[in-house]
Amino acid sequence: MKKIIITGGAGFIGSHVVRRFVTTYPEYQIINLDKLTYAGNLANLKDIENAPNYKFVKGDIVDLEFINNLFATEQPDAVVHLAAESHVDRSITNPLEFVMTNVVGTVNLLNAAKNLWKGEYDKKRFYHVSTDEVYGTLGETDMFTEQTAYDPHSPYSASKASSDHFVRAYHDTYGMDTVISNCSNNYGSYHFPEKLIPLAIHNITENKPVPVYGKGENVRDWLWVEDHARAIDVIFHNAATGTTYNIGGHNEWKNIDLIQLLCRILDKKLNREEGESAKLITYVTDRAGHDLRYAIDATKLKNELGWTPSITFEEGLEKTVDWYLSNNEWLKNVTSGHYQDYYSEQYNNR
Ligand code: NAD
Ligand code: TYD
Repeated sequence: MKKIIITGGAGFIGSHVVRRFVTTYPEYQIINLDKLTYAGNLANLKDIENAPNYKFVKGDIVDLEFINNLFATEQPDAVVHLAAESHVDRSITNPLEFVMTNVVGTVNLLNAAKNLWKGEYDKKRFYHVSTDEVYGTLGETDMFTEQTAYDPHSPYSASKASSDHFVRAYHDTYGMDTVISNCSNNYGSYHFPEKLIPLAIHNITENKPVPVYGKGENVRDWLWVEDHARAIDVIFHNAATGTTYNIGGHNEWKNIDLIQLLCRILDKKLNREEGESAKLITYVTDRAGHDLRYAIDATKLKNELGWTPSITFEEGLEKTVDWYLSNNEWLKNVTSGHYQDYYSEQYNNR
């Protein structure tokens, strides 16, 4: 019997990882540890909340005493660590919160695991989920490999880079079994509408302006979230100790092209005239320090562990738009209250 603490399991990617582990491995005990910040939502896990091998624990990874007690009580065999502050725009407004959760929180978890697992590091695993943003920004043709030097630019990516370094340090210094994956931008169901794709779907549907930063020329490499969750499963079970894998779908889009595609899809789905949704596109002041291009080379993951994306971007985007259109209640709940304050602070004077 394996007991795994998954942190950040009530968030976007974490909820897909929790669901995958709970349903694929009934013999594992899955503990979802989450603080339930604005980004955490137990409604993301309604379908599995009563599964016998699932338990939710509310708590803050920055709280060292709480973390030490939890590890002592639960005696986990592994950690899959996703809890983080994850939005670049929020990191520009409040960098310290990102240092606390992403750096201090990660070190707290590493310490608790180091103390609990002493003498049996070869039987336990600490899996750290990270981002391609640690590598910085690309020119027009190159790609991020696992050898690319770290060069973060936003407070978010700087905090994730720092946490990656700590995870490697715990492997190199103490011999802990650690694994890191760096993934490109995700999209899919349960994505909080502060990030580009769900925000655009939401605004187009509501006939609100769709904000495009700068000229919309920035390029992101998009991966369907369920393919990311499957990659995490494959890497967790098969990667050698101390290794790193990049995860991505070879799927680069300029922001403006992506938004125009979403407008066309939604024109059809909402029975609008062709071109009607695109009238909502509104260019706004660029993000400070905006990375131009991200692109992941996931050859190592494909060659060594056989993972490739399961669906095309067109299929994934269609599924995602359909999910948002038929989960209006979920969207309404997450966009009420504090979301309105956040939205006006971010966008009203842009
Ligand atoms: P998210 O913001 O949707 O979810 C983060 C979760 O962590 C939330 O449930 C939140 O409540 C929880 N959390 C935040 N602070 C916490 C704390 N102090 N203690 C306990 N729980 C806390 O994020 P996401 O998009 O699902 O990202 C998950 C992980 O994947 C992050 O580590 C992120 O850096 C990484 N990642 C994200 C993307 C992406 O495109 N979203 C891509 C690559 C990597
Ligand atoms: P985002 O979803 O915030 O992810 P990240 O910054 O981690 O890549 O943004 C994706 C891209 O879309 C990024 O280049 C910024 C841009 N963007 C907009 O143009 N408008 C928006 O309202 C948002 C949220 C993002």
